[in-house]
Amino acid sequence: MNKQLRCPVIAGNWKMNKTPAQAKELLDAMLPLVADAPCKVVVCTPFVDLPVALAACAGINVEVGAQNMHFAESGAFTGEISASMLTEMGVSYVIIGHSERRQYFAETDETVNKKVLAALQAGLKPIVCVGESLQQRENGETDALVSSQVRAALAGVSADRLQDVIIAYEPIWAIGTGKTATSAQANETCGVIRAAVADLYGQDAADRLVIQYGGSMNAGNAAELLAQPHVDGGLIGGASLKAPDFSAIVHAAE
Ligand code: PGA
Repeated sequence: MNKQLRCPVIAGNWKMNKTPAQAKELLDAMLPLVADAPCKVVVCTPFVDLPVALAACAGINVEVGAQNMHFAESGAFTGEISASMLTEMGVSYVIIGHSERRQYFAETDETVNKKVLAALQAGLKPIVCVGESLQQRENGETDALVSSQVRAALAGVSADRLQDVIIAYEPIWAIGTGKTATSAQANETCGVIRAAVADLYGQDAADRLVIQYGGSMNAGNAAELLAQPHVDGGLIGGASLKAPDFSAIVHAAE
């Protein structure tokens, strides 16, 4: 296992926060702090903030992502956004299958897979979220669950497209709770995900896959989490809404 094969990616997941004016204010404060980032940096904003984010990030080392998309190319899906709508704007990443979408918006392994395939087809890089509930962890189901979520999400993804996929391990019990997985837990489950991918695509492809940890990662715990052999970055919720905190996490990804 060779961590040097992978460039760490720190992605902010703003969730349903910030109006366009507030987004501009946050980016004005944040972008100068991450200009010298030692890793890839992505900000995933609400749809309506994407134009502001794309303008602010033009020509610099920060890329812009969405937080969801529909799997269809176009059609009668009131309120939805397609992958090509995002790519035409200049968006390069999209979060898919976040646990909040699975929990509140009825996303399933099947819709996650359709979205992953549609994103890759359109040239978007999916950040695919997997992770267990507290109950599932306590029942000892974590490894089997995340492996099956990974297998389902990647069904039909060819080996040469895998390089555009990021997997984010986000234990549901750690999201927005201030309760972080220990670095050992994060590393172990990211390792389970890598093993599942090695099973599907071979060890070499698995060694190149970026696997993020997400769930209450903050300025204080980021360095230890990011130093773990299987943890190649972070998907950051709450702390991505504060410029100094997000910058501290980015700089912890040396
Ligand atoms: P959190 O959220 O950092 O606020 O726990 C992470 C996420 O949901 O992606």
